[in-house]
Amino acid sequence: MAEPRICSIDGKLTEEFAIPSHVEEVKEKMAAFARFHAEAGRRVVLITSGGTKVPLESRTVRFLDNFSSGRRGAASAEYFIDSGYAVIFLHRHHSLYPYTRMFVTINMLDALQFMGGGEGAAGNGAEVVVNQQVLPNIAKVLKRYQEVKDGGLLLPIEFNTLSEYLHLLKAAAQALNSIGSKAMFYLAAAVSDFYIPTSEMPEHKIQSSNGPLQLSMKMVPKILSPLVKDWAPQAFVTSFKLETDASILLDKARGALDTYRHQAVVANVLDSRRGYVVVVTPETQAELILSKEDVKKEVEIEERIVSNLTSEHSKFMTQAASAK
Ligand code: PMT
Repeated sequence: MAEPRICSIDGKLTEEFAIPSHVEEVKEKMAAFARFHAEAGRRVVLITSGGTKVPLESRTVRFLDNFSSGRRGAASAEYFIDSGYAVIFLHRHHSLYPYTRMFVTINMLDALQFMGGGEGAAGNGAEVVVNQQVLPNIAKVLKRYQEVKDGGLLLPIEFNTLSEYLHLLKAAAQALNSIGSKAMFYLAAAVSDFYIPTSEMPEHKIQSSNGPLQLSMKMVPKILSPLVKDWAPQAFVTSFKLETDASILLDKARGALDTYRHQAVVANVLDSRRGYVVVVTPETQAELILSKEDVKKEVEIEERIVSNLTSEHSKFMTQAASAK
């Protein structure tokens, strides 16, 4: 029989997932960021992005990972900022990052030209010029990046392991609770559903001399449940549903809304996720598709997702205000 999903997730988190030493400090930072922007009249979105790493040994040599590049989260962060939001970007270390995401496949040294000058063999102070053909749009992107940085509109927080993700998301939810319905959660990270509890994990590298490896993994508690019910009950919460079989996708998305009672699910299929998603809410279902023309113009599906969700969030805030 399948193990039931844990009821006391707080207890389970503390017992079985190592608490990162900096979690309280990060929580305070996120709370201050949320308060500051809410007072300035901005909404705040917490984006999760990238995959999670699940260690198989305490002194980790091997781990389980997944496909997520973090592109969805990074691109969405830019569109949320363009829509007037302040963004807390809770992302996997080394996954794609807003603005720099466009240049990650480029060898930086191919984009720079040494023009000579400078002092000594090290050439300190030499003139180095950017080749804008190698870095297309660099001036535009850099200008925007600096505006965002100067405006303090993006707060990046990194996670690496599943434990870090779970504790930092809980801290984020508690930090954003004070701004009520102005907060949005956009849970685009691909989070492992399985893990090995620390108490059952071998300390040292698993020896191949012991023969084939059989793993028994436990179910990770679905963090959506306490997030919606206990930690940030007034916030607008969007989860994601990823499947490889398109025929079960919408039922799964509706099932998630029924179970967790949150506001929206973005449903996507692995192979078509860059050009097609369905945003499902309790009352609506919006298909967002990029046409060939859109692709030619380099329109990104995240622009459409963010536009759809920001209007859902506006309606949600209006309802929350009239219910007071
Ligand atoms: O990063 P990219 O390469 O651009 O890809 C984007 C994406 C495909 C990863 C993204 O669009 C996406 O679908 N992310 C969610 C994938 C996923 O983990 O789906 P799920 O069905 O396993 O989880 C459903 C939801 O529950 C997710 O919002 C997840 O964040 C959340 N969850 C999952 C596990 C867990 N223990 N707790 C959770 O809260």
